[in-house]
Amino acid sequence: MEFNILTPELTRALAAIIGEEYAVLPTDAEGMQHYTHDETEDLRYMPELVLKPKNAAEISRIMRLCHENIIPVTPRGAGTGLSGGALAVHGGVVLSTERLNAIIQIDEQNLQATVEPGVITQVFQEAVIARGLYYPPDPSSRGSCFLGGNLSESSGGPRAVKYGVTKDYVLNMEVVLPTGEITWTGANVLKNATGYNLTQLLIGSEGTLGVITKIVFRLIPYPPQNLVMLVPFRKEEEACAAVSRIFMAGIVPSALEFMERDAIEWTSRYLGLGMVMAEDERAHLLIELDGNDMDLLYKDAERVYEVLETFDVGEILVADTEKQKEDLWRLRRNVGHAVKSNSIYKEEDTVVPRAQLPVLLRGVKEIGERYAFKSVCYGHAGDGNLHINIVKGDMSDDDWDNKLPEGIKEIFRLCVSLGGTISGEHGIGLVQRPYIGIALNEVQLYLMRGIKQLFDPRGILNPGKIF
Ligand code: LAC
Ligand code: ZN
Repeated sequence: MEFNILTPELTRALAAIIGEEYAVLPTDAEGMQHYTHDETEDLRYMPELVLKPKNAAEISRIMRLCHENIIPVTPRGAGTGLSGGALAVHGGVVLSTERLNAIIQIDEQNLQATVEPGVITQVFQEAVIARGLYYPPDPSSRGSCFLGGNLSESSGGPRAVKYGVTKDYVLNMEVVLPTGEITWTGANVLKNATGYNLTQLLIGSEGTLGVITKIVFRLIPYPPQNLVMLVPFRKEEEACAAVSRIFMAGIVPSALEFMERDAIEWTSRYLGLGMVMAEDERAHLLIELDGNDMDLLYKDAERVYEVLETFDVGEILVADTEKQKEDLWRLRRNVGHAVKSNSIYKEEDTVVPRAQLPVLLRGVKEIGERYAFKSVCYGHAGDGNLHINIVKGDMSDDDWDNKLPEGIKEIFRLCVSLGGTISGEHGIGLVQRPYIGIALNEVQLYLMRGIKQLFDPRGILNPGKIF
């Protein structure tokens, strides 16, 4: 890929589109800092210019100018991504959606909402809950991430196990194409059999096909009751095995999360929660049931206990105050941060059919022994989605850079051999790009490259990502 660098004239012309006060220039080292990284490892890339447009019309003019002059453009939400999707690896323009932050409409008659991409996920969730409605997708970063980023990476989160991931709530989007056209991708309807599904094609495209400027979501009624429990297991693999058994007993929990001992220990310490665990507890499942009727939830909980009794479990903690529930969720949501605060790490986002989870976990530990790396595993066990945090600790830089990737390849090959794939909800972005060939074959890659070429003939939108 050959890109041009930004000349002073072009920089001025781009800044003039949005108003100079909304552009950040490299001369402003401090202002630039924020846009050089996301939450992925310790990676940093310096853009040549940051632009903060206000609407689709401005973005369209930016894209036209960049297309004409072959300047790379990297769309950016809140920068909470875990695969490096928002990093300007080829320099050029970072296009921040932070000023597109309006909840335009909550349509209570149709259970729909129209929003701009820079709305924080939790802000949106709370706005619809206030109307008795529910937008379930809740990535761990929901307090700071943007909905636009959630769409771009096809984010999930704990509630996906019952309610589905971000893509399952998107009906329609307004997007600006790399060549500057503004279009909607679908219609605001629950059924649509009209041509190819452009909406779902754009979701999870990691900002490589278009810039999202409006989103129409479907919503559901808010389930007001829930039950949260923390279940200790004496064997990690039994915790994993219990997961599919709970579904086989006819129960669909609203969350079913796995944390191995280190995940809980490190996070409890990081947050100062002072959790005490028995010596022999190796892993925990965090289980949430939700619905409209507490009596029914207790009946479901009985069935869950019946399953759990067939495993070697310790004392089950049922949260009986809101504060206790909050603490348990805070613990779960902060595992990634806790590991990051301890050491440089790489976070893998493996996913397999859920009954294969025990095989995956055993395989990861066995590969770790052979390649001498420590891993802290946790994640959305109900989805078969295991996050594997590989900790650098005192591994040498040479082993980290050269030997570890071979171990990661083995993990990914194992996932694929079990019927799974290499990312469930974090995306491929920059850091998983070298491994894409393990998950996708030549035919799939040919089709995807062709789609990219059609949308973005000059390859200027988020170059260096996915493939
Ligand atoms: C989580 C993020 C890392 O599950 O996906 O906490
Ligand atoms: Zn996750």
